Amino acid sequence: MIDIGIVIGSTRPGRNGENVARWVHDLAAKRDDARFELVDLHEHALPHLDEPQPAAAGSYENPHTLAWSERIARFDGFIFVTPEYNRSTSGVLKNAIDFLYAEWADKAAAFVSYGVDGGVRAAEHLRQVLGQLQVATVQAQVTLSLFADFENLSEFRPAAHQEERVTVMLDQLVSWSRALRPLRA
Ligand SMILES: Cc1cc2nc3c(=O)[nH]c(=O)nc-3n(C[C@H](O)[C@H](O)[C@H](O)COP(=O)(O)O)c2cc1C
Repeated sequence: MIDIGIVIGSTRPGRNGENVARWVHDLAAKRDDARFELVDLHEHALPHLDEPQPAAAGSYENPHTLAWSERIARFDGFIFVTPEYNRSTSGVLKNAIDFLYAEWADKAAAFVSYGVDGGVRAAEHLRQVLGQLQVATVQAQVTLSLFADFENLSEFRPAAHQEERVTVMLDQLVSWSRALRPLRA
């Protein structure tokens, strides 16, 4: 069985990201080809990167890094639920990614982004970052508009066609997570 982590990329009080991630999780949980689990950065509460060695060295000193490493290492793939902040992803998500290295490698990832223009710039930046970490990012992407998929910019009411987008994204993600298994062995 494939294990997929759904990373909530915002810790902001009143964040939209949690409802978006729960919607993705509810849709994904209907599948029988993978298991899906929410990973809430708010619960991990990582500080600004405070490891003396770069993550690529794989020698972590801090208990919060070891806990984060353990959490991420066991997944086969990820869905990054990302807001767009100043034309990129959130600082808290970038920081959480920077903490680790081997734990991300040879896995697949997909994006659910949201913002004024669907958060596409955030997802594009994440694709660059994850390329460095040898994460294979799938083509299908769910882009949610603050105007079309939310009421008053804050009540999540996804348009009907978005569910189909999630299905296509999950099909690609599960396939690639499975295909990369030999590299992780
Ligand atoms: C610091 C900050 C910067 C933002 N910059 C952008 C932006 O460049 N483009 C955009 O589409 N939305 C931008 N927004 C709007 C966010 O995408 C929107 O508030 C979204 O709901 C934030 O995600 P969250 O509620 O899960 O924290 C910004 C919001 C914040 C807080």
